Amino acid sequence: MSAAVQTSVATPKKRARRTRHAPSTDTQLTAEEKRLIHLSFLRVEPALDLVAQLFFLKLFRLDPSLRKKFSGPIEVQARKFAAGAKLAMISLGHEDGLAPTLKLLGARHRQLGIRSRHYRTMSRALVWTMERSLEKKFDRDTKDAWNTLLSSFTRIMAV
Ligand code: HEM
Repeated sequence: MSAAVQTSVATPKKRARRTRHAPSTDTQLTAEEKRLIHLSFLRVEPALDLVAQLFFLKLFRLDPSLRKKFSGPIEVQARKFAAGAKLAMISLGHEDGLAPTLKLLGARHRQLGIRSRHYRTMSRALVWTMERSLEKKFDRDTKDAWNTLLSSFTRIMAV
């Protein structure tokens, strides 16, 4: 974890006011929400493979019909999960600039039969996984920030 991030953990900033003038494809996250998401990602990153496996266990428990949409062994899926998670982190620094990429990714997911309800299930599974992985470090504000990020991904991808 970088020193910059550690410093920002020690001195939590006040919640920034959200401005709602951004285009609809904007992730609409405040600087503080981005910091919390990035920090929690850095905390799970060393164990991303395990976290991915926990996520898939939960996802398939919530909706067993999703299992057949994923081809190949769980290790391969874990790598795709890591790619998706890193894309989410990159999106924090790019705001609307990433929307075209996400729209293309959304189109590919639509071809796979992934619908809005699946995004909701995936979001539940991911937030559950982060809660289990980070316990108290996944506090209310961090959870809210992840939910905001996942909602905006869903809004952009699941159209
Ligand atoms: C935050 C939203 C999501 C992101 C950023 C994301 C990201 C990705 C990425 C980067 C890939 C690899 C792309 C490729 O192989 O062409 C992928 C593949 C896939 N995603 Fe997602 N995804 C998201 C949501 C979902 C949801 C909601 C589902 C279903 C519950 C889903 C199911 C799949 C499946 C089935 C594949 C193909 C796996 C395979 O090749 O076997 N994704 N996703």
